[in-house]
Amino acid sequence: MESGIPHSAAEIDANALHQLIEDAQRYRDYAEMSSDWYWEQDAAFRFTYFSREFEEITGVPKAVGLGKTRWEALSRERLGNVDWEAHKRLLAEHRPFRNFEYPGKGPDGRLLWFRVSGKPRFDEQGRFAGYFGIASDITSKKTIESHLQQAERLAAIGQLAAGMAHEINNPVGFVRSNLKTFENYLEQLLAVADACAALPELTTPLQRALHAADIDFLRTDAPALLADCRRGLDRVGKILADLREFGREGQTDRAAVDIHECLASALRLATIDLAAGVAIAQEYAALPAVRCRPGQINQVALALLANAIQALPQGGGKITLRTGQDGPGRVWFEVADDGCGIAPEHLPRLFEPFFTTRPVGQGTGLGLTTAFDIITEHGGRIDVESTPGAGSRFRVTLPVISPAS
Ligand SMILES: Nc1ncnc2c1ncn2[C@@H]1O[C@H](COP(=O)(O)OP(=O)(O)OP(=O)(O)O)[C@@H](O)[C@H]1O
Ligand SMILES: [Mg+2]
Repeated sequence: MESGIPHSAAEIDANALHQLIEDAQRYRDYAEMSSDWYWEQDAAFRFTYFSREFEEITGVPKAVGLGKTRWEALSRERLGNVDWEAHKRLLAEHRPFRNFEYPGKGPDGRLLWFRVSGKPRFDEQGRFAGYFGIASDITSKKTIESHLQQAERLAAIGQLAAGMAHEINNPVGFVRSNLKTFENYLEQLLAVADACAALPELTTPLQRALHAADIDFLRTDAPALLADCRRGLDRVGKILADLREFGREGQTDRAAVDIHECLASALRLATIDLAAGVAIAQEYAALPAVRCRPGQINQVALALLANAIQALPQGGGKITLRTGQDGPGRVWFEVADDGCGIAPEHLPRLFEPFFTTRPVGQGTGLGLTTAFDIITEHGGRIDVESTPGAGSRFRVTLPVISPAS
């Protein structure tokens, strides 16, 4: 074949074969260099094949996945707000998909995240035969993302809180000052009424007006109403102070803090629009001041309270806040509810980033992750006990003097 032009059918076949072998080798080389792996599924979406890289990259033996669907094999269905229903619908319609991200479990129980793209396969008769595609391990990207999201979440809450506090502070200020003026006016008016009542001869319209106004009732009721308004304003003022503290959350330095104040602060915010049927009990022990970042501890208490409230059934239930001491160096606070409880298989995963059982779009699954990070950073710990159907108890233990302070 001097000219490079094939002369016979045999030569053409040999060339084609040679080309095929070269191509196959080239794809194998690419595949080996790639940080992705290849997979195939049958018509019931059960894995039938993983390329070698799968085991190397993930550390998961192929056998774990073969013969199972994606959601049976490695997934933790409710983790990370992954919309599995939408994914399954798409597969049922035999449509291609790109960059579907979902979490799975490593052999040591470690959380892994995968990103997969796939295309449907059809046989010679055009019948659907399954899927094939490519996948990669995006665990480290997800971990970074979760930290960023947590930081963003904290910053967003902080900004929102500070912004709201600022906006509400102004009107509250003038309502408070007007109330004071109004009190003075009222006193003057009552004095006028008294003077009128003392007149030796009352003209009929004045008598009628004094009678209609029921001055005696007004004299006692008006100050009571005003006192009520002032109490309301004091409460708003306290909530504003709490919000401002959340706003400064990132910057606050460690200080000697009364844990009960953190609880009160979180409680005021958590219970702003609480259903009437929810009872809150407080069983507090005398505690020493704890060196901590109060804004962050508020945040932890708020996350636990929010979860406790969400765990209660519609009609309400009971939340108990308790505090106590473990020896001289450690204090604890706990938030207990008699709500839905936590399934045993969810318990080890509560603090994982993005773990949530809330419907898609509600709950980021970062509340407890953030709480865990904050408490760990303070040298403390969070313990959970829960009985499905009976309730849960989250206990935060903190050293009185945290290691980094
Ligand atoms: N007191 C509780 N009772 C029952 N389940 C709880 C309780 N606290 C937490 N959980 C479970 O733990 C999961 C993770 O809680 P976490 O606070 O981290 O996220 P989330 O509440 O789902 O979302 P987010 O806090 O971001 O709004 C919840 O989805 C819920 O299933
Ligand atoms: Mg939560």
